[in-house]
Amino acid sequence: MSIALALHVLSVVVWVGGMFFAYMCLRPAAVEVLEPPLRLQLWVATFRRFFPFVWAAVILIPAAGYWMIGKFGGFANLPLYVHIMNGLGIVMILIFLHVFFAPYRRLRRAVEAADWPAGGKALAQIRMLVGTNTLIGLATVAIATGGRYLIH
Ligand code: HEM
Repeated sequence: MSIALALHVLSVVVWVGGMFFAYMCLRPAAVEVLEPPLRLQLWVATFRRFFPFVWAAVILIPAAGYWMIGKFGGFANLPLYVHIMNGLGIVMILIFLHVFFAPYRRLRRAVEAADWPAGGKALAQIRMLVGTNTLIGLATVAIATGGRYLIH
Protein backbone atom coordinates (compact mmCIF):
# COMPACT_ATOMS: atom_id res chain seq x y z
CA MET A 1 0.00 0.00 0.00
CA SER A 2 2.78 2.48 0.88
CA ILE A 3 4.58 1.81 -2.43
CA ALA A 4 1.36 2.16 -4.44
CA LEU A 5 0.39 5.42 -2.72
CA ALA A 6 3.92 6.85 -3.14
CA LEU A 7 4.03 5.94 -6.87
CA HIS A 8 0.52 7.37 -7.30
CA VAL A 9 1.34 10.71 -5.68
CA LEU A 10 4.84 11.01 -7.23
CA SER A 11 3.28 10.52 -10.68
CA VAL A 12 0.71 13.21 -9.86
CA VAL A 13 3.47 15.61 -8.73
CA VAL A 14 5.47 15.13 -11.94
CA TRP A 15 2.43 15.46 -14.24
CA VAL A 16 0.50 18.29 -12.56
CA GLY A 17 3.66 20.19 -11.52
CA GLY A 18 5.03 19.89 -15.06
CA MET A 19 1.79 21.24 -16.55
CA PHE A 20 1.73 24.10 -14.04
CA PHE A 21 5.31 25.09 -14.93
CA ALA A 22 4.64 24.82 -18.68
CA TYR A 23 1.41 26.81 -18.55
CA MET A 24 2.21 29.46 -15.96
CA CYS A 25 5.96 30.05 -16.56
CA LEU A 26 7.36 28.65 -19.81
CA ARG A 27 4.38 29.71 -21.98
CA PRO A 28 4.45 33.45 -21.11
CA ALA A 29 8.28 33.46 -21.14
CA ALA A 30 8.36 31.90 -24.63
CA VAL A 31 5.83 34.48 -25.92
CA GLU A 32 7.96 37.28 -24.48
CA VAL A 33 11.34 36.10 -25.78
CA LEU A 34 10.85 34.06 -28.98
CA GLU A 35 9.37 34.68 -32.44
CA PRO A 36 6.77 32.08 -33.56
CA PRO A 37 9.10 29.73 -35.55
CA LEU A 38 11.54 29.30 -32.66
CA ARG A 39 8.73 29.25 -30.08
CA LEU A 40 6.94 26.40 -31.88
CA GLN A 41 10.20 24.45 -32.16
CA LEU A 42 10.84 25.00 -28.45
CA TRP A 43 7.42 23.52 -27.64
CA VAL A 44 7.99 20.44 -29.82
CA ALA A 45 11.39 19.90 -28.14
CA THR A 46 9.80 20.43 -24.69
CA PHE A 47 6.83 18.09 -25.25
CA ARG A 48 9.15 15.42 -26.69
CA ARG A 49 10.89 15.37 -23.30
CA PHE A 50 7.83 15.87 -21.06
CA PHE A 51 5.29 13.51 -22.65
CA PRO A 52 7.19 10.24 -21.88
CA PHE A 53 6.88 11.19 -18.18
CA VAL A 54 3.17 11.90 -18.70
CA TRP A 55 2.74 8.47 -20.35
CA ALA A 56 4.35 6.86 -17.30
CA ALA A 57 2.03 8.93 -15.06
CA VAL A 58 -1.18 8.04 -16.94
CA ILE A 59 -0.27 4.35 -16.58
CA LEU A 60 0.98 4.45 -12.97
CA ILE A 61 -1.79 6.71 -11.54
CA PRO A 62 -4.73 4.42 -12.44
CA ALA A 63 -2.70 1.19 -11.92
CA ALA A 64 -1.72 2.19 -8.37
CA GLY A 65 -5.16 3.76 -7.73
CA TYR A 66 -7.15 0.67 -8.72
CA TRP A 67 -4.69 -1.58 -6.87
CA MET A 68 -5.34 0.44 -3.68
CA ILE A 69 -9.10 0.30 -4.31
CA GLY A 70 -8.76 -3.49 -4.60
CA LYS A 71 -7.04 -3.55 -1.20
CA PHE A 72 -9.87 -1.41 0.25
CA GLY A 73 -12.34 -4.10 -0.88
CA GLY A 74 -13.53 -2.62 -4.18
CA PHE A 75 -15.65 0.32 -5.30
CA ALA A 76 -18.66 -0.45 -3.07
CA ASN A 77 -17.16 0.85 0.20
CA LEU A 78 -15.25 3.83 -1.11
CA PRO A 79 -15.53 7.33 0.35
CA LEU A 80 -16.97 9.93 -2.03
CA TYR A 81 -13.65 11.80 -2.48
CA VAL A 82 -12.11 8.69 -4.09
CA HIS A 83 -15.04 8.40 -6.54
CA ILE A 84 -14.57 12.07 -7.45
CA MET A 85 -10.79 11.55 -7.84
CA ASN A 86 -11.42 8.54 -10.07
CA GLY A 87 -13.87 10.49 -12.28
CA LEU A 88 -11.64 13.54 -12.60
CA GLY A 89 -8.59 11.31 -13.18
CA ILE A 90 -10.32 9.57 -16.10
CA VAL A 91 -11.24 12.96 -17.62
CA MET A 92 -7.61 14.15 -17.26
CA ILE A 93 -6.25 11.00 -18.90
CA LEU A 94 -8.71 11.30 -21.83
CA ILE A 95 -7.72 14.96 -22.32
CA PHE A 96 -4.03 13.98 -22.38
CA LEU A 97 -4.66 11.19 -24.90
CA HIS A 98 -6.55 13.64 -27.11
CA VAL A 99 -3.70 16.20 -26.87
CA PHE A 100 -1.11 13.54 -27.71
CA PHE A 101 -2.86 12.00 -30.70
CA ALA A 102 -4.55 15.10 -32.22
CA PRO A 103 -3.10 18.62 -31.72
CA TYR A 104 0.42 17.47 -30.70
CA ARG A 105 0.66 15.34 -33.85
CA ARG A 106 -0.55 18.33 -35.92
CA LEU A 107 2.01 20.58 -34.17
CA ARG A 108 4.89 18.20 -35.01
CA ARG A 109 3.77 17.90 -38.65
CA ALA A 110 3.41 21.69 -38.96
CA VAL A 111 6.86 22.34 -37.49
CA GLU A 112 8.45 19.72 -39.79
CA ALA A 113 6.79 21.47 -42.76
CA ALA A 114 7.70 24.96 -41.40
CA ASP A 115 3.96 25.76 -41.56
CA TRP A 116 3.95 28.28 -38.69
CA PRO A 117 0.27 29.36 -38.88
CA ALA A 118 -0.89 25.71 -38.66
CA GLY A 119 1.61 25.14 -35.82
CA GLY A 120 0.26 28.18 -33.98
CA LYS A 121 -3.29 26.82 -34.28
CA ALA A 122 -2.30 23.40 -32.93
CA LEU A 123 -0.33 25.00 -30.08
CA ALA A 124 -3.34 27.18 -29.15
CA GLN A 125 -5.45 24.00 -28.83
CA ILE A 126 -2.77 22.33 -26.69
CA ARG A 127 -2.55 25.45 -24.51
CA MET A 128 -6.31 25.42 -23.86
CA LEU A 129 -6.38 21.69 -23.06
CA VAL A 130 -3.26 21.78 -20.86
CA GLY A 131 -4.70 24.81 -19.00
CA THR A 132 -7.91 22.84 -18.41
CA ASN A 133 -6.00 19.77 -17.24
CA THR A 134 -3.86 21.87 -14.88
CA LEU A 135 -7.01 23.25 -13.23
CA ILE A 136 -8.64 19.80 -12.98
CA GLY A 137 -5.35 18.37 -11.65
CA LEU A 138 -5.03 21.02 -8.92
CA ALA A 139 -8.69 20.55 -7.97
CA THR A 140 -8.22 16.77 -7.82
CA VAL A 141 -5.19 17.12 -5.52
CA ALA A 142 -7.20 19.49 -3.28
CA ILE A 143 -10.11 17.00 -3.15
CA ALA A 144 -7.81 13.99 -2.59
CA THR A 145 -6.01 15.68 0.31
CA GLY A 146 -7.94 18.46 2.09
CA GLY A 147 -11.29 17.59 0.52
CA ARG A 148 -11.36 14.13 2.11
CA TYR A 149 -12.18 15.78 5.47
CA LEU A 150 -15.16 17.58 3.91
CA ILE A 151 -16.44 15.03 1.35
CA HIS A 152 -16.67 11.55 2.91
C1 HEM B 1 -7.44 7.01 -12.30
C2 HEM B 1 -8.03 7.45 -11.31
C3 HEM B 1 -7.58 7.43 -9.86
C4 HEM B 1 -7.84 6.49 -8.90
C5 HEM B 1 -8.58 5.18 -9.11
C6 HEM B 1 -7.28 6.96 -7.67
C7 HEM B 1 -7.31 6.28 -6.45
C8 HEM B 1 -6.70 6.69 -5.29
C9 HEM B 1 -6.73 5.97 -4.03
C10 HEM B 1 -7.47 4.67 -3.80
C11 HEM B 1 -6.01 6.68 -3.14
C12 HEM B 1 -5.76 6.34 -1.66
C13 HEM B 1 -6.83 7.04 -0.85
C14 HEM B 1 -6.62 6.90 0.62
O1 HEM B 1 -5.52 6.57 1.07
O2 HEM B 1 -7.61 7.16 1.35
C15 HEM B 1 -5.50 7.86 -3.80
C16 HEM B 1 -4.73 8.85 -3.20
C17 HEM B 1 -4.40 10.04 -3.80
N1 HEM B 1 -4.68 10.42 -5.09
FE1 HEM B 1 -5.70 9.31 -6.47
N2 HEM B 1 -6.69 8.18 -7.89
C18 HEM B 1 -6.85 8.51 -9.21
C19 HEM B 1 -6.40 9.64 -9.84
C20 HEM B 1 -5.79 10.70 -9.20
C21 HEM B 1 -5.44 11.95 -9.82
C22 HEM B 1 -5.69 12.27 -11.29
C23 HEM B 1 -4.87 12.74 -8.86
C24 HEM B 1 -4.34 14.15 -8.94
C25 HEM B 1 -4.32 14.88 -10.01
C26 HEM B 1 -4.84 11.98 -7.62
C27 HEM B 1 -4.31 12.43 -6.44
C28 HEM B 1 -4.20 11.69 -5.28
C29 HEM B 1 -3.53 12.15 -4.09
C30 HEM B 1 -2.85 13.51 -3.89
C31 HEM B 1 -3.67 11.13 -3.14
C32 HEM B 1 -3.09 11.10 -1.72
C33 HEM B 1 -4.18 11.44 -0.73
C34 HEM B 1 -3.63 11.31 0.69
O3 HEM B 1 -3.12 10.24 1.04
O4 HEM B 1 -3.74 12.30 1.43
N3 HEM B 1 -5.41 10.76 -7.88
N4 HEM B 1 -5.94 7.85 -5.11
